[in-house]
Amino acid sequence: MTQGVGLGLRTGHFNHLLKTPRTKIDWFEAITENFINTEGAPLAVLAKLRETYPIALHGVALSIGSVDGVRLPHLKKIKRLAERIEPFQISDHLCFARFSSRQYHELLPLPLTFAMAKRVIANIDKVQTFLGRPLVLENISAYASFPQNEMAETEFLNFIADASGCKLLLDINNIYVNAANFRFNARRFLLGIDPRHVAQYHLAGFSDLGTHLFDTHAEKIHNPVLRLFREAKHHIGERPLSLERDDRIPAFQVLEREILRTAALTAVSMPGKFSAGASPQYPAGGKAGDNLRREKLWQKTLYTRVPTKTEKSAGTLTPRAVQKVYRNAYEIRLTEALHEKFIRLAQAMPRAAFLNLCKKYVAAVASTEEDLGEYGATMPRFVAKQMPQHRYLPDLARLDLMRYKLHQLAPGAELTQLFAKKVSLTQAIRLWHGETGPRRGKSAPGNYLALYRDHYAVKELLLQKAEFDFLRSLQKPVFLLKRLAVAEKEKRLSAAAVKRLFRILGLPGILA
Ligand SMILES: [Fe+2]
Repeated sequence: MTQGVGLGLRTGHFNHLLKTPRTKIDWFEAITENFINTEGAPLAVLAKLRETYPIALHGVALSIGSVDGVRLPHLKKIKRLAERIEPFQISDHLCFARFSSRQYHELLPLPLTFAMAKRVIANIDKVQTFLGRPLVLENISAYASFPQNEMAETEFLNFIADASGCKLLLDINNIYVNAANFRFNARRFLLGIDPRHVAQYHLAGFSDLGTHLFDTHAEKIHNPVLRLFREAKHHIGERPLSLERDDRIPAFQVLEREILRTAALTAVSMPGKFSAGASPQYPAGGKAGDNLRREKLWQKTLYTRVPTKTEKSAGTLTPRAVQKVYRNAYEIRLTEALHEKFIRLAQAMPRAAFLNLCKKYVAAVASTEEDLGEYGATMPRFVAKQMPQHRYLPDLARLDLMRYKLHQLAPGAELTQLFAKKVSLTQAIRLWHGETGPRRGKSAPGNYLALYRDHYAVKELLLQKAEFDFLRSLQKPVFLLKRLAVAEKEKRLSAAAVKRLFRILGLPGILA
């Protein structure tokens, strides 16, 4: 069984890991959704690391607590990835992240009721049967709690693990954050967890926002969390441990040192003062009805409903303020995803105008896919509608999308559908090539741009109309010699132009 220390795999460390594949880390944890829609560089890096390290897949979008069940298309993608990577664990969070066709991209708290537990158990059963292995579920940090809860979180965790055979990923930081915010005893929480269910630990750093602790994964592990972790190890035992960092991510070696030091510090056995608790008490009986009406309403309207007086929320925040925290987090997450994807569009606009555009887009277009990278497919049309006076902006958005799609392709994939798409406006091309603002009057060096893949890198080439036509014509089934003879005869292309084109035509995948 895989043990030892793991690190959350982050894109910023890819280059370091490719250059220095040997590290002191025992295993890596990869975010499932970052790899389900790609055949490009991220998957290649993951596969490369898998040659040396065990990998755990850790999802953020399965939404095991959705009242309307889990999505089969998403499960299929997870299974496909698991067949390639052969992870030693597949985990996600005990939460909901989706209602109906809308993906929230947040880990949202579940109603802790018998009806909900029953639905979660049915969802887990579907996932485990489909994947043919136990699912590992993590306790989340929450900022709101369902007013009609019928059991404590530890009871809920034990109950669903006992009934479904799933395992638990105990995030010690999340326990600490929730204990501080909702004022309960973190040690007692630990004692309430049945050690037999625990398959992994997480550690991370929270941020103290004054009104409440926020699970940002942006800081070093705090000392009280380390102390709690030692107690967890005493009560539960040794399990694979992983450090998560998602914001203000330092160099790989810094995180490597932090997790190794943590493992060394917490290796000391605890004095006997902390005895294991009594066997967990499962909630007996209960109203295990099928009616999920209230739970459904909670999931549908978490951001918008009027909170009741009995509702509990994190720290000194009011339930209304909590809704705002969640809504803001949603908006920030989706805006960041748009910023990452529409790089050139963002560069061509004043920052405030781009952020305003994103805000409007997020308000108008709900995310429907588990992978946040898929968000923004309708941006070109949206920009055209919002800013009809800037005709080059939709072209830039289209190019950004094309570039993103090219990144996702396997090397050598047939590029007929993506290669050398016409982008007609010279202003867009100038901006694409780094000019800060549109220029008027002067004639452009070329009206067309070819985007293509050279191994894992996406490259670009400015083309004259004749070059563009020639490349396009080559993408249809033709006799190459015949086509060349025609081009030569018509004197449409110079010898230098042909040579230039053939440099990229020689790359695998350009010609279907
Ligand atoms: Fe975690």
